[in-house]
Formats: sequence, C-alpha cells, structure tokens
Amino acid sequence: MAFEPLPIEDARREIVSCTQIQELEALRIKYLGRRGLIQDLMAKIPMLAVDEKRLYGAAVNDFKNKLTAWISEKETLLKTFKGSDPALGCDITLPGKKVLLGKLHLLTQVKLEICSIFGSLGFKVFDGPEIETEVNNFEALNIPLDHPSRDAFDTFYIKSPQSTVHSPQKKEKNKNHGPSTMDRRLLRSHTSPAQIRAMQACEPPLAIIVPGRVYRPDAVDASHSFMFHQVEGFVVDTDIKFSDLKGILIAFAQEMFGSKTKLRFRPSFFPFTEPSAEVDISCFLCEGRGCSVCKRSGWLEILGSGMIHPHVFKSVGYDPRKWRGFAFGMGVERIAMLKYGVTDIRLFFENDIRFLEQF
Ligand code: PHE
Repeated sequence: MAFEPLPIEDARREIVSCTQIQELEALRIKYLGRRGLIQDLMAKIPMLAVDEKRLYGAAVNDFKNKLTAWISEKETLLKTFKGSDPALGCDITLPGKKVLLGKLHLLTQVKLEICSIFGSLGFKVFDGPEIETEVNNFEALNIPLDHPSRDAFDTFYIKSPQSTVHSPQKKEKNKNHGPSTMDRRLLRSHTSPAQIRAMQACEPPLAIIVPGRVYRPDAVDASHSFMFHQVEGFVVDTDIKFSDLKGILIAFAQEMFGSKTKLRFRPSFFPFTEPSAEVDISCFLCEGRGCSVCKRSGWLEILGSGMIHPHVFKSVGYDPRKWRGFAFGMGVERIAMLKYGVTDIRLFFENDIRFLEQF
C-alpha cells in the first residue's frame, strides 16, 4: 500500500508565519497533541505491510522531530520578542544606535550671535568678496601706498592674469610711472573694504554689518592665524555722532557679555576713521578686579572703531559735508575665545571633534 505524502511543507509554513504564542500552542496541539496529526499518522502503521512499516514509521518519526524542533525554535523567538514583530527579523527591544546630531561650529555660532544682536538694532547683513582689489582694501580706505599703517595690514597678494595683461595705454603708463597697482588683487586683510562696496552699491542712510574671513601672513601660534574672521559694522546718515557709536557698542556688548559690562574707549588711530578708538569691555570673568585673562588690568580689548573719515566718503562719491558715519570692526575668534575660555586659536581650525562637540 502506497502512503500519502506527509504535509511537511504546509506545517513548516504555518509555524513560520505564526506570530502569537497562543497560535503556536494551537499548532502544537494540531500536530503533536494526543489527538493530533502525528498520532493519526502513527495509528496507520499497524495496517501497513512489514517493509512499508519501517519506511513509513521512519518518515513519520522524522516529521515529528522536525515539528518539535520548529515549534520550540519559534517559541524561543516569540518569547524573546515578546510583543514585537518577529517578522522584522531583529530584536527591536535592544537599545538603538545613537545618532549624533551635527552642530554649528563655535565660530559660526558666535558670528550668528553677533549678527543677530546687530540685526535687532536695525543693521542689515552685507557680504563682500575675500579676494579684493588693492584699491578697496587700501586706497579707498585712505591708506595710501606708502603709508606706514600698511604694515599693520600685512597682506597676501595674488598673482592674477589681470595684473600681467595690460592694455597698450597702460603699458605706456607703466613705463612712465612704474608698475600700476590699481588692478592688483589680494586676500582682504580686513572686512573694511566691504564698507566701500556697500557704500558704492547702496544709497545712504545705511546700517550694515559684514561678517567674513580675512587673511594676514602672520606666523601661526596660540593667538595668531593666517586666516581669521571679523565682523565689520557701520552706519551712515546725516546726523551721526560719536555718542551714537558709543550707544550702539554699549548695547551690543551688554547683550553679548552681560548687562553689567562696562565699555572703555581709548584714543587710537585707523586711517579710515577720525577720531578713532579702541574699545575694551570690563572683564566679565573677574568683573574688573583683575585676573589672568585680562592680564590683571580688568579690561579686555574687543574692537576698533571711529567716525568714518571724509576721504572714505569722497572715494565712494558721498558728499562728506552731508554724510556722517561711524564704523567698527571686531575679531570673531577673539570674542569666541574670551566668551568660551578657548586659549588657543588653532583649536578652531584643527577640526578635532572632541573640541568641536563641546559647544
Ligand atoms: N579694519 C580694522 C582692523 O582690521 C578695524 C576697524 C574697522 C577699525 C572699522 C575702525 C573701523 O583692525
């Protein structure tokens, strides 16, 4: 007598697709229970011929072993995943992998904070190029070619095709007067040339802030870098006084460093402002008593400023008898270092995640 094929594949599929422990128990009873399929199949053995008995008996036994193994395997799986979905094929109760959120670089955070304070005072952001003309970086800012103050703004010059290609007229001129510097390109050594661009592009009144990179061929050490960031600010209107400059800078410093911050204006010199002042804030670490950061002086220098020089207005075509203005420029690294206790400027540019993730 030939015996029917055993429903091994059906049983396997049922066990695999089962998702509940109760459902699995029902399958165990269906197949392995006292009145289950295996018992039914066993009951047929005595009716078989002797040689069939052995074959059929072995097949049923094998089926029974498979069922037992599959059911116990499934039981472990369902118990491990408890309420979750085993079809996912992973244990979703295990702790997940931490996703690290990126953040803005400390210098970007400080730059945005500066811009936001001036934004709330009515300033608009203007952007100038990092590659500038010698005219904008120096001449138009009342820094003539032979002026000693150029040394303070030591500069990277760029060999550009434009500075070697001359028109015949220019060649003639160069022969007579030495090399023309009017079209030399350089990496701007301060953000002040953006004053020239903004004044040329816009009609006064103006209240403008210019954040950006600047370059100076300084040897790199804990407080110098050949590239750093400045924020330039300036205001032009018909009735601007030095007291307006003081008022704006006091409002800025108290917002940036705390409402108790005091300002000290020290007479200084910049060719593009007259009068000029360097501005110190009272040391917010020791509140003016004197500490190692303020070098026992109680004051921290944070920016340069002054009333815009009439020559600057002339160079952009503004009538200096009509327009008045003030300007200031501050170093973003310096402010970030003071505010966040960073003692080495190189840390900003090394991109060590252990430094960056602290802010
Ligand atoms: N440009 C000056 C510097 O880089 C700062 C400054 C800006 C001073 C505007 C006065 C007015 O040192």
